[in-house]
Amino acid sequence: MAKFKDGDGVKDEKFLVSSVEMKETSKGQPYCNLQLKQSDASISAKIWSNSLNDKVKIEQGKVLVVTSGKIDSYKGRQQIVISSYAISEEEAGEEFTSPLPKDKVEAMINEMFVGTQYDNPDIEKLMAAIYGDPEIMDKFRAGSPSMTNHHNYPGGLVEHTWEAFCTAKFWAKEVFANRVDADIIIAATILHDIGCIYAYQFEGEFLKSTNGRLIDHVYIGATIVEKYALLVGCDEGVSRHVLHCILSHMGNLEWGAVVQPKTLEAQLVHFADMVSARIKGMEQVLENQKLDPLGFTYSYTYGELYRGKD
Ligand SMILES: [Fe+2]
Ligand SMILES: [Fe+2]
Repeated sequence: MAKFKDGDGVKDEKFLVSSVEMKETSKGQPYCNLQLKQSDASISAKIWSNSLNDKVKIEQGKVLVVTSGKIDSYKGRQQIVISSYAISEEEAGEEFTSPLPKDKVEAMINEMFVGTQYDNPDIEKLMAAIYGDPEIMDKFRAGSPSMTNHHNYPGGLVEHTWEAFCTAKFWAKEVFANRVDADIIIAATILHDIGCIYAYQFEGEFLKSTNGRLIDHVYIGATIVEKYALLVGCDEGVSRHVLHCILSHMGNLEWGAVVQPKTLEAQLVHFADMVSARIKGMEQVLENQKLDPLGFTYSYTYGELYRGKD
């Protein structure tokens, strides 16, 4: 959590408990390991045996008030050493799990689904039908496109899709205008991760569902779009192209694509997806991980990253 520095005191700060585990030291002393969340950031915490309070039961999903604690680093990662704490009676609201206000999520959905006009009537019909399904849209509002790498909070699926949509729209309408099919690119970018609504489930944090593990978001998304394409009588060539963009959006087979991108439109959808995922992923690492004194940090996914001092 970027807002904390080693040595900082933590006083009357609220966190969502995302995991709790009781352990024992080699000398048989009990202690507690916690993973705590605030917004999209996560931090480890420890309660040593002399600070454990038998009268306060810490459970996953509850709001923990750290009445007193201190930030230090253990094996290069920041943690809070808690010396006193309480459990709040309040329900853990979205302020603990998502950095995105609901009205912002709604504005992004509106821009994508209501504010976009298509020249192709088949794409128009397809997008209107999907927007008209309340189950899909409610799950889309609350979804995430990833467990850990990027946008991994409620509303993250909408934010990621909107970032990719803005990027793809600019490329399709400005940079490559009249050289690519803008309707296909824009619709396919909006729909590229729609399968995530059934591929992840939220339990304090996003986990892959059985469907996500066994048939993956790429295939799930294609089945949703195919169902609606058939329902509205979408032209076969148009729906095939949108499906190709969805099935290839991971870019290559090793990364989870069913087929590699074979059209200019599919390649641009893949790049737009990458722009959003990569930039947000790097941003989250730089915000959530401790930087060394020169401003560097290391991530397994992105390698060495740097946020300059000024
Ligand atoms: Fe994806
Ligand atoms: Fe994506």
